[in-house]
Amino acid sequence: MSGPFSRLQRELEERASSGLLRRRHTLTGPQGTRIEVDGKRYVSFCSNDYLGLASHPRIIEALQSGAMRYGAGSGAAHLVTGHSLAHDRLECELAAFVGKPSALLFSTGYMANIGVVQALVDRSDTVFADKLNHASLNDAMLLSRATVRRYRHNDLDHLEKMMDEAEAGQRLVITDAVFSMDGDRALLPEILELCERHDAWLLIDDAHGFGVSGAKGRGSISHFGMDSPLVIYMATLGKAAGVFGAFVAAEKIVIDTLVNKARSYIYTTATPPALSVALSESLVLIDEADEARAHLKVLTMRLRQSLKDLKWRLMESDTAIQPLLIGGNEEAMDISMALRERGIWVAAIRPPTVPSGTARLRIALSAQHDLSDIDRLAEALHELAR
Ligand SMILES: Cc1ncc(COP(=O)(O)O)c(C=O)c1O
Repeated sequence: MSGPFSRLQRELEERASSGLLRRRHTLTGPQGTRIEVDGKRYVSFCSNDYLGLASHPRIIEALQSGAMRYGAGSGAAHLVTGHSLAHDRLECELAAFVGKPSALLFSTGYMANIGVVQALVDRSDTVFADKLNHASLNDAMLLSRATVRRYRHNDLDHLEKMMDEAEAGQRLVITDAVFSMDGDRALLPEILELCERHDAWLLIDDAHGFGVSGAKGRGSISHFGMDSPLVIYMATLGKAAGVFGAFVAAEKIVIDTLVNKARSYIYTTATPPALSVALSESLVLIDEADEARAHLKVLTMRLRQSLKDLKWRLMESDTAIQPLLIGGNEEAMDISMALRERGIWVAAIRPPTVPSGTARLRIALSAQHDLSDIDRLAEALHELAR
């Protein structure tokens, strides 16, 4: 190969030789705890479909009726003619659901994070970010051109020191509520206290808390029983909510600012209205899902109990994300492959998604699992450890 292609070839080969080459697997059926890949069936511990709503018949029906009423595509950006009654209704429902005055839909969580940070801060301001934040928050702060300060994971003394030292200008703290690759929670009430003392915004990314944490699945704000007008709440709708998209909920003036300034909101086509119809149904199902959330807790405890003597350590987490720390990239891949041979699919997560030397199996639980699925996974891991 020559010219620009040879560089790409070299980079891919380097990735392959360090066990970091990524590739996709094609599912031939719906998402769930049972998946079919290349004609073979597996028990899966990989999806973020924590409540098992991705294939729920009531959501599928709502999606179909939404398509019958609104068609397949929105055809325009929200600020042109893409904003439908279905979007509008869902925004009102989402705001009420999480107890905020106003809400705005985005196409994805990635775009929501990029849009919020870029709309709220600029070169003269400072963003403070937990070192283990999701890539979308990291990209958002870099694109905003604000000064960036990254504090050690959940280290509030470090954050406070940085906030005290910051230059004049607006301060914005951004954090995952439930860390996507670690499963632990940000110390949100304490972070909020620091924000209040410094007149700083707090952007909470609750991709993995919405629907699962808090009373009736209201999310991490409800989990901690906290709130403030300074909190800007972002959650995704393609995980526990089972469909697609994301929203930001905040004071009305913040939402009006996003409508006017957030580029990833303005310069993109609105999502198909049928998705919003499906998501309205999903909110009803989340509200009704107390039993599923209780079952998820039982599964989590069973997994932690069954793996407590294993040579690999489950990371500290009380959520549906239960990462098993392995360390080396190749070892993590080998264990993941050996599980696959036993009909169990657990994704190995490697750098740069996680820090070097901390490759892990990200075990994600769903209310659709039953106790025998957990026992099967635990037995397989014990066998591999021997
Ligand atoms: C913490 C966190 N924030 C944001 C996102 C991005 O959301 P979306 O998939 O809707 O783009 C994800 C995962 O995808 C996530 O885990």
